[in-house]
Amino acid sequence: MIDRTQAELLIAGRLSEKRREHSQRVAAKAAELARRFGAVAEAAEIAGLLHDYCRDLSDAETLAAAARFGLEVGAVEMRRPKKLLHGRVAAAELAAAGLDADIAAAIARHTTGGPGMTVLEKCLYVADFCEPGREFPGLEEVRVLALTSLDAAVAVAARTSLLDLVGRGRGVVPGALALYNEMYADD
Ligand SMILES: [Fe+2]
Ligand SMILES: [Fe+2]
Repeated sequence: MIDRTQAELLIAGRLSEKRREHSQRVAAKAAELARRFGAVAEAAEIAGLLHDYCRDLSDAETLAAAARFGLEVGAVEMRRPKKLLHGRVAAAELAAAGLDADIAAAIARHTTGGPGMTVLEKCLYVADFCEPGREFPGLEEVRVLALTSLDAAVAVAARTSLLDLVGRGRGVVPGALALYNEMYADD
C-alpha cells in the first residue's frame, strides 16, 4: 500500500516543480469530486498525486518501461508513447511497488479514459482535465457540469478531447473512442 505521504515523497523525487504543482492541484480536485460523487477521497488524492509519475520519461524510456512491464502497446500509442502511455506505465510501476489496484487502474486510464470507468477513475479523469491551472476552450463547461454530474462532465471532456485530436489530425486510441460511444450511446 502507498499512502498520501509516500505519494508526496515519490513525486518529490521524480517530477519537476511545475508538474508536481499540477499533480497537487489534480489531487485536490479529484478529492473534491470524490467527496461529491461517492468515491474514497484519500484514494482520489493519491491517484491525483501519482497520475503523472512517469510523465517526464522520454519516448524511448516510456516504451522500454512498457516492455519491462509486459504492456501491450497499440499502434496509436506507439506513435506518441510519452503522451499516451505515461499513465499505463506509471500504473504498472506503482502497482508493482504496492499501490492499490483501484488507484492504479485510475492512473492507467487518466489520459484517454475508457469504457466502464469506476467513479474513482472518472474523478481522476475529470480532475486532470479541469484542474484550476488549465485554460482552454470547452473547459469551463466541464467545470460547471462537474458541480452536479460526474457523467455529464466525463461526457463533455471525452467529446472535447476527441474533437481536439481529430481536428489536429491525430490518432485516437480505442479506449477513448469506446468512452465517447458509451457516454453518447443514447443519442
Ligand atoms: Fe497525464
Ligand atoms: Fe496530468
